[in-house]
Amino acid sequence: MRDLLPSTVAVAVAGRADWASELLPAEQVCLGEQAVPTRRRDFTAGRACARRALVELGLPPTAVPAAADRAPVWPAGVVGAITHTTGYCAAAAAHTTDIRSVGIDAELHREINPGVRRLVLLPEEDAYCARLPSGTHWPIVLFSAKETVYKVWYPVVGSWLDFHDARLDLDPDAGTFTARIASARVDAAGVDDPPASISGRFVVADGLVRTAAVLPLR
Ligand SMILES: CC(C)(COP(=O)(O)OP(=O)(O)OC[C@H]1O[C@@H](n2cnc3c(N)ncnc32)[C@H](O)[C@@H]1OP(=O)(O)O)[C@@H](O)C(=O)NCCC(=O)NCCS
Repeated sequence: MRDLLPSTVAVAVAGRADWASELLPAEQVCLGEQAVPTRRRDFTAGRACARRALVELGLPPTAVPAAADRAPVWPAGVVGAITHTTGYCAAAAAHTTDIRSVGIDAELHREINPGVRRLVLLPEEDAYCARLPSGTHWPIVLFSAKETVYKVWYPVVGSWLDFHDARLDLDPDAGTFTARIASARVDAAGVDDPPASISGRFVVADGLVRTAAVLPLR
């Protein structure tokens, strides 16, 4: 994930100990007592990474609670994102004086079933995937990129973005993508200078798809 983001973004990837580390009280409250073990492990690893990313930014390892909408609550002056999938977890954080928003996502590199594919991809994106070089499950790359786009969009705009609200183009050789956001969503955003496009990077390696994007300062 480190290589996908600019140097102003602190990135922490979970090591073995992070999955079984301790939550801070403000984080524990958000997880609740009833969480199943896998959810507890994911949440815990995400918070361990988030706090380490804060330290890398020169900040104390403050608690990163979750809001009612599940978005992580970063300390004032920080933007960030968390992702976890089977065996992999990472967090990214940056000062708001350096970037406006950041998103990251990781998925197992796998085929996705036709139902999910229809939900995630626009028909033209589905056709586009078929034209891309073989050997990569491109639909899951687009899926991950769209989740990254959502994590960039949501903290800035505070509203929902459907999978079909972003049309993706990617450059398979450069490992880059750009999402054009539906103009209806941009027009309805109700914030200054809502992002009409979000660009990022992706890599497929070690059985994982990793995607990341930043929204630069205005
Ligand atoms: C929120 C969402 C993107 C998370 O992605 P995911 O692949 O399910 O899971 P990941 O492990 O990668 O990310 C989970 C983390 O995302 C973060 N997250 C949750 N809601 C969020 C939001 N609204 N904004 C930013 N981050 C959010 C949380 O930190 C969460 O981890 P935690 O609950 O342990 O704190 C996904 O569940 C979702 O709702 N997607 C639908 C919206 C969407 O993606 N639209 C596409 C627009 S192009």
